[in-house]
Amino acid sequence: MKNKMQRKRSPEELRSHRWFGVTDMRSFAHRSRAKQMGYGHDDYAGKPVIAIINTWSDLTTCHSHFRERAEEVKRGVWQAGGFPVEIPALPLNETYMKPSPMMYRNLLAMEVEELLRCQPIDGVVLMGGCDKTTPGLLMGAMSMDLPAIYLPAGPMLRGNWNGQVLGSGSDVWKYWAEKCAGNITEAEWNEMEDGIARSPGHCMTMGTASTMTAIAETLGFTLPGASSIPAVDANHSRLAAGCGRRIVEMIWEDLKPSDILTMKSFDNAITADMAIGGSTNAIIHMVAMAGRAGIKLELKKFDEISQRTPMIANLRPSGKHLMEDFYYSGGLRALLWQIRELLDLDCTTVNGQTIGENISGAKVHNTEVIRSIDDPVAPQGGTAILYGNLAPNGAVIKPTAAEKRLLQHTGHAVVFRDYNDMAARMDNEDLRCDENSVIVLQNAGPLGGPGMPEWGMLPIPKKLLKKGVRDMVRISDARMSGTAYGACVLHVSPESYIGGPLAFVRDGDLIELDVPNRKLNLQISDDEMAKRQAEWVKPQRRYERGFGALFSEHVTQADQGCDFDFLHAGAGTPEPEIH
Ligand code: FES
Repeated sequence: MKNKMQRKRSPEELRSHRWFGVTDMRSFAHRSRAKQMGYGHDDYAGKPVIAIINTWSDLTTCHSHFRERAEEVKRGVWQAGGFPVEIPALPLNETYMKPSPMMYRNLLAMEVEELLRCQPIDGVVLMGGCDKTTPGLLMGAMSMDLPAIYLPAGPMLRGNWNGQVLGSGSDVWKYWAEKCAGNITEAEWNEMEDGIARSPGHCMTMGTASTMTAIAETLGFTLPGASSIPAVDANHSRLAAGCGRRIVEMIWEDLKPSDILTMKSFDNAITADMAIGGSTNAIIHMVAMAGRAGIKLELKKFDEISQRTPMIANLRPSGKHLMEDFYYSGGLRALLWQIRELLDLDCTTVNGQTIGENISGAKVHNTEVIRSIDDPVAPQGGTAILYGNLAPNGAVIKPTAAEKRLLQHTGHAVVFRDYNDMAARMDNEDLRCDENSVIVLQNAGPLGGPGMPEWGMLPIPKKLLKKGVRDMVRISDARMSGTAYGACVLHVSPESYIGGPLAFVRDGDLIELDVPNRKLNLQISDDEMAKRQAEWVKPQRRYERGFGALFSEHVTQADQGCDFDFLHAGAGTPEPEIH
């Protein structure tokens, strides 16, 4: 690695040289069209061409500062002697896209890979942050394997209502339950709407966005400390310019994702995920990202690392504070330094330093927010993997965000066959359930949802909310927002829509959840299970055309990362002929 970084490439070795640097008829067109944009020979000749892939849109509210940031990245690129080109890419947003932006994560990854391949690009700054943009951008860049650096959007400022701090997502669920129970007025609810999203930036709880940007940093794809900086902090603008300067150097050094990604860097990322109490969604995304790098991550690895990693970030939904507090307390660098004995400190990062060099000596400024290994928020990581006859290929739960009494629980199933069925019947007064029931939602997985919508924090029936019940065991093949909480078993695999055992659960069946022993079982005999399987009717295929048809044909199950089967690392794709 060191030898490779010491040798500087020549301009003739740049990928873009084949477009701009040769003297044939096509290169005439390439140069004259650059001049059409007002760029002269000195602007681009012999310089690395840097793509700034920007997932801005008017509906991607978490990225509303990205037009400004793209200009700041360009400033850094110019300063370092590169030629910046901004390229828009699928602006996945968590709030407005239905049925779920998860259905389109792989489309963004494909788009990024092909945008880089078919154009004169030498390296890329990836601009994302809202949940699915981080894995989508990184997966595409990993497959293309050009020098790449990630600029995370940064979290938004704390929410505020009536003198109280509000956290994205987490406090919506919390206060919605109070409203349903009659404890919050319509006027108070409307006031919260004004105060919960106060600035540009992604959700500021330790939801999926904060988790995935922390993972990107731990994997080595960001400048040190990048993932913790609030979106509107002036340090974030300086970070953007720094990304622009650094990517130019990375191209001369030929420092690529394949130089950074190893099994050890993924182990580090999983360890960080557990220590921050990260989103359950991170498991799916990490399996998919590793698959792009040719690394197989088994679900049991997450459980092994979880069991040896204390959760030390005191952040909602598993803890108390928000990302702004995390930043002021030292941010991810300080957290990683606290758990350094659990990390491989020799892994390479985009600045050419090791992760150990990047975090060395980082201080914790508030031990209430970033705790220590000896005084953790929870003795183990934020995620557990369950197996049993209900989830032969695994299921996921976030025990740190659940009521402890429910972590070993057996109860009678109340089954909803899909989301609409649940919405229609959940609040019926005659629904046969009590606080010990186990609520089951079928057909919400990768194909059944489709796209595994974040329905997994299944609602609690209104009649139980009124009795003060705030958590119950809930099981589905859906995902759950990283900002959500509760005893919710998620990602049950294989999913019910393709005939996984979750499809065979019936009202009144007994289901056993045993988190300490990692078990999830439907208490029926093998004969009865086989009989129900034989009676099961396969649903009709959902899509016959368009992206939905491609998705239906090729998406893998949750335990395999929900990537498309033809996008896993493999033989590689040839470079285009430049004719
Ligand atoms: Fe974008 Fe939550 S809506 S991160």
